[in-house]
Amino acid sequence: MSRKPFLAGNWKMFKTGEQAAEFIGQFKSVAASLGDRDIALAVPATALETAAKAAQGSPLIIGAQNLFWEKEGAFTGEISAPMIKGAGATMVIIGHSERRQFFGDTDEKVAKKLAAALADGLLPVVCVGENLSERENGKTLDVLSTQLTGSLAGLSAEAAASIVVAYEPVWAIGTGKSASEGEAQEVHVFLRRRLKETFGAEAADRIRIIYGGSVKPENAALILAQSEIDGLLVGGASLKVDSFTKIVQSPYAG
Ligand code: PGA
Repeated sequence: MSRKPFLAGNWKMFKTGEQAAEFIGQFKSVAASLGDRDIALAVPATALETAAKAAQGSPLIIGAQNLFWEKEGAFTGEISAPMIKGAGATMVIIGHSERRQFFGDTDEKVAKKLAAALADGLLPVVCVGENLSERENGKTLDVLSTQLTGSLAGLSAEAAASIVVAYEPVWAIGTGKSASEGEAQEVHVFLRRRLKETFGAEAADRIRIIYGGSVKPENAALILAQSEIDGLLVGGASLKVDSFTKIVQSPYAG
């Protein structure tokens, strides 16, 4: 089954609203010229509204990097799905390993955030990934299976079909050492199989599974050439217009 490739940048804690608007002003024509793929940017919460305005009139998708599952309330420092939507954004990253590592996001919390995102019509990008010791101890697939099951708990097959899953090995994030295309493909095949077991073939075939971790202009095409890799989640290399442009323009084999 052919899935529309999904290529997203994750700016993490970089860029003010002004810097976001400048980037998007230069980049949005690139996104408009690539109609065969979805292109997205996950920006800091403070830049959401400016970024969404700057992207208006282009197909560039703007998203947040996290959300809280309640719609509103006494939750100092948090933002909700309706707030993200209200800022003009349509996507949200959930369960990024940095959230899991530094801010206590467990699979259970990820599942609640996912339900909240879907309830408000946001496109969720749910991240899973093993760390170095888990990989070295041969636990990669077990860890991923647990994360996937826990993070997607309670999801209907219909809802599952609309999400994006990002495989991001923690040891590859920000280290300059990406997974080899073979390593990534092996995990993606496994994740698709697990998704089929949980949600059935029809829904699982529609879920886009993207790879993240030290993606650069030099390795993007090789990773995208893998049949089970439906796109990329790009951190550091999404901060500059020229490198992110090269990445999103990479040939996609499907
Ligand atoms: P990186 O980050 O591309 O800088 O390795 C990827 C991510 O954390 O999403």
